[in-house]
Amino acid sequence: MIKRNIKKISLDVAPLTLHIGAEIKNIDLRKPLSDQHVEDIKATLAKWKVLFFRDQFLDHDQHVAFSHQLGNPTPGHPIYGASKGYPEIYTVSKTRMTDRFEGEPINHPWNWWHTDLTCAKNPPYASILRADVVPPYGGDTQFTNLCAAYDALSPGMQSFLKGLRGIHHKAPQDGVNVKKIYKDKNKQTRMVSEHPLVRVHPETTEKVLFVSPNFLHDIVGLTPTETKAILEFLKAHAVRPEFTVRFQWKPGSIAIWDNRATCHLPPRDIYMPDCKFERCFYRTTLMGPTAYGTDGQESRQLEGKPLSPI
Ligand SMILES: [Fe+2]
Repeated sequence: MIKRNIKKISLDVAPLTLHIGAEIKNIDLRKPLSDQHVEDIKATLAKWKVLFFRDQFLDHDQHVAFSHQLGNPTPGHPIYGASKGYPEIYTVSKTRMTDRFEGEPINHPWNWWHTDLTCAKNPPYASILRADVVPPYGGDTQFTNLCAAYDALSPGMQSFLKGLRGIHHKAPQDGVNVKKIYKDKNKQTRMVSEHPLVRVHPETTEKVLFVSPNFLHDIVGLTPTETKAILEFLKAHAVRPEFTVRFQWKPGSIAIWDNRATCHLPPRDIYMPDCKFERCFYRTTLMGPTAYGTDGQESRQLEGKPLSPI
């Protein structure tokens, strides 16, 4: 894997695993950052794929201001909207699952590994998630490095995948019972995109196994049987434990992930029937570029509109 060499870094960076995740210490995100700090956060994000910060007690205004320093925020969420008065902020509450689906949220495959919004040809560059109400234990988030996943494939498999493109769409999988109001919203805001299975990271030039398990359901040119077998393998491979890091949240924690090269797994334990803890986080997402493959061919929006800034 190509690791970007960062010179004269102004940050205190503590890596958490071999492939992914670093904690950034001694920084106050409530205040405007220097240009050097902004540049170093971006470079460290491109290298470690997810950054964690502790004891950052930002309010909504500070969260939005910090987001603007790193990029251009997109509207909170294309289906589920934004927090009142803050079009950039999406509320990630525990109850959002029960609001949308019939039955027990723990049984919904919708809440599974994914890269944010790969139903757009230009999925977000990064997401910034801020903890507010945090369970005393449980509710961790896991992240996986899709560049490390690609690198671990055999040369034969790498070359086979480079020629393929996948269809990503924003729709609950079969068997997920969505409430009518959200079924209608899903129809109105339908988004489908075609992405290469191997994407090039626009900053590091690493190759990314661009598999977003919740969104990717078809491979162009393969039979349904072939698609099923290949996707089953790729989705399991992409999240092998050695490519991942697991983050335990505390009040004031913030995570930023490079959405061009990672998948993440929202917590499922908080939806167990015996879990009574609340959990409420807030997220912003930053505009990303249109993805492209190793042949330079860009991703395509097949249905709906690409993401746009606020
Ligand atoms: Fe997500």
